[in-house]
Amino acid sequence: MIKAIKGTKDILPKDIPAWNFIENIVAEKMRQFNYKEIRTPVFEETALFSRGIGEATDIVGKEMYTFTDRSNNSVTLRPEMTASVVRALIEHFLDKQQNLNKLYYISPMFRQERPQAGRLRQFHQFGAEALGSNDPSLDAEMIILAYDIIKEFGIKNLTVKINSLGVPSSREEYKTILRDYLKDKFENLSEESKNRYETNILRLFDSKDEHDQEIMKNAPLLLEHLDDESLEHFEKVKQILLSAKVPFEIDPKLVRGLDYYTNTTFEIVSSSVGSQSALCGGGRYNLLVNQLGGKEVPAVGFAAGIERILLACETEESLNLPEEKLDCYIVRLDKELSAKAYEYGLLLRRAGLEVELDYSLRSIKAQMREANRLNAKYTLLVGGEEFENNKVVLKNMETSEQQNIDFENIESIIKIIK
Ligand code: HAM
Repeated sequence: MIKAIKGTKDILPKDIPAWNFIENIVAEKMRQFNYKEIRTPVFEETALFSRGIGEATDIVGKEMYTFTDRSNNSVTLRPEMTASVVRALIEHFLDKQQNLNKLYYISPMFRQERPQAGRLRQFHQFGAEALGSNDPSLDAEMIILAYDIIKEFGIKNLTVKINSLGVPSSREEYKTILRDYLKDKFENLSEESKNRYETNILRLFDSKDEHDQEIMKNAPLLLEHLDDESLEHFEKVKQILLSAKVPFEIDPKLVRGLDYYTNTTFEIVSSSVGSQSALCGGGRYNLLVNQLGGKEVPAVGFAAGIERILLACETEESLNLPEEKLDCYIVRLDKELSAKAYEYGLLLRRAGLEVELDYSLRSIKAQMREANRLNAKYTLLVGGEEFENNKVVLKNMETSEQQNIDFENIESIIKIIK
């Protein structure tokens, strides 16, 4: 038997109300903050991601779904959206049409990670990118937007962590300081950290290895070596968050797993989802547009994992979704009246009602059971003695109240149900 690929998940009809709920809130919040939706292709030229996200990152190094197509081009299923959004901005000259482009997306992403709770190989993100301004109020807006959206799902155990990675020049200086600190401890580092020492030294703060963590505990922090401008930028972000009443913690070890960040980085984590606790991550990336062939366009953004948010909602039982109901189930009392029942069904559906009927000549009892299973508000009984007297019976399933209505008086049936 062929099964879904490991790390991918079917989203079944029973799951859809929660997904719709989340997607609707995202769309509504994005509207309030004036972000416009963008949809880009699921696969791109591999170079977009290797250059955009960084060769030394885990994503590019070990997680991308990369393959050579029949024309010998290397293509990759997108592991994230920021690089794609930047490509689209450059390709369609969006930055020339307006100074500030505020864009959002809800899309599937692909990373070949080891699957576990909250970590999939095809997962979904919603996210936003604002391209065209270096104003710290936009950094804050991203954090507020992400926080406000996640709050709407009723999740309570949330921590907003923020940090600043400064600009490349101060970061390079700091890396030298960090390397100096680690020099005589190098032999005690894990193999992975030894490798990262050269390629991506900041990620040593993310190591899961206990010895590494012990060593990094007393390491000098980038936040203590920021240039003045970055410090001032960070101060302003914090001020705005304070006045917006977004509770936050400063986490000087928050380095994030993608190379494009400058200045502000942030994550929103939840204690309700186990080890994969980051519901959302983002930050400023002032150099990426230029690196990918565009002008210098300062930008900031975030992305949140929908599956992880759903896990948090489940643990906290925070989603109060309305019960699914059907407006009307048409019960055919006589088998010969199937066509008539279908005709009623169509008329009601065309009037905008949600209607179901029996397609397999089942007994009256089975049809009533089905009406109950589908949570029908009304049943329309077609047939029997009433029908011989030119009537149909409309039954309110909640009150069990029945009304006989002239069988041609569709308008009146629709009115009652509506
Ligand atoms: P990221 O931190 O790689 O950032 O991913 C953002 C969120 O996507 C994570 O916090 C997590 O909730 C979810 N996520 C990531 N990987 C998986 C996975 N394998 N399974 C389930 N959920 C996952 C980015 O992707 C950046 N593009 C964010 C950004 C936008 N920065 C600036 N603009």
